[in-house]
Amino acid sequence: FFDTALRPMITAAAASERIKETSQRLGVTKRVVERFVPGETQDDALTAIRESLDRGLSVTIDHLGEDTTDESQATATVSAYLTLLQQMSHIAQPDPGALEVSLKLTALGQTLPRHGRKIAEENAHIICAAARSAGVLVTVDAEDHRTVDERLDIVRSLRREFDDLGTVLQAYLRRTEDDCRDAAASGARIRLCKGAYAEPATVAFTDRTQVDEAYLRCLRILMKGNGYPMVASHDPMMIGAAQELAIECDRPSGSWEHQMLYGIRTDEQLRLAAGGSHVRVYIPYGTEWYGYFVRRLAEKPANLTFFLRALASR
Ligand code: FDA
Repeated sequence: FFDTALRPMITAAAASERIKETSQRLGVTKRVVERFVPGETQDDALTAIRESLDRGLSVTIDHLGEDTTDESQATATVSAYLTLLQQMSHIAQPDPGALEVSLKLTALGQTLPRHGRKIAEENAHIICAAARSAGVLVTVDAEDHRTVDERLDIVRSLRREFDDLGTVLQAYLRRTEDDCRDAAASGARIRLCKGAYAEPATVAFTDRTQVDEAYLRCLRILMKGNGYPMVASHDPMMIGAAQELAIECDRPSGSWEHQMLYGIRTDEQLRLAAGGSHVRVYIPYGTEWYGYFVRRLAEKPANLTFFLRALASR
């Protein structure tokens, strides 16, 4: 019931302005949100970066925001990334590539009614150039399926100048095996995740087992290819499969990595890192945490219970 009825409903709530305003006004979320988001300010993000690096984890930082409806907001997002990158450039990296930022093209203007694609690409270009000067990598997040073609197009275009630019592929989309084949041949950095949006069965597998099987097929393609696979999953089955495939494909450590979200299976992140695996933690920060937070609730029934309890205790 959770997967077939509740999950799509919760994910759809991410798009509801009314639910968003109510939960922000109630302030309920603070305690629950803190589990997934270290804070709203850049200083909070910087503290989380330093703590993660000290624990042997690499990081990717997301300035929260999505579905921007006005151009000035997209420009403000670019400014936030530029000051963040400026700050990150002062952090000593234990290994090159330990620092990364993740960004969403819809936060940079992709869905603006006029010239959205052009604006998003120009904004992403500004961030990529600043990241290169700061010695920080960039990966472009995956959003809902309607944005995929344009995002992959923009990433391909930017990769002509920034060949280490990465992006995300979502195993639940029926098209993704083909996208993985293209990516594996192009040598790109690809973060493979299961997918977190409510998608129709016409474009996505909706059954958990089918998604898992698709993930494993995609992972094999990426591991066999000549790119840099970023295995973004907390699922023990995917984590184990990645390690076995890396051996089977003769991949040296440093030619792929595990990735997990801030606040989720932290012990496992540390255990893998202590065992010599390269592990990156995705750290989101900022005031626009609502959409991100709702997707985390939808991933696990226990999260929803925890949230509802916090609501009830007010
Ligand atoms: P699964 O959902 O099967 O979870 C496996 C286990 O992990 C659970 O049993 C539980 O123990 C733990 N777990 C997972 N989610 C949890 C949660 N919310 N709270 C508590 N425990 C949880 N999606 C997307 O559409 N676009 C994107 O760009 C990204 N980017 C991204 C980056 C990184 C680094 C990660 C790790 C994930 C993403 N995702 C994403 C999210 C991804 O698509 C997916 O929704 C989640 O990672 C959950 O899927 P798992 O593979 O972890 O497996």
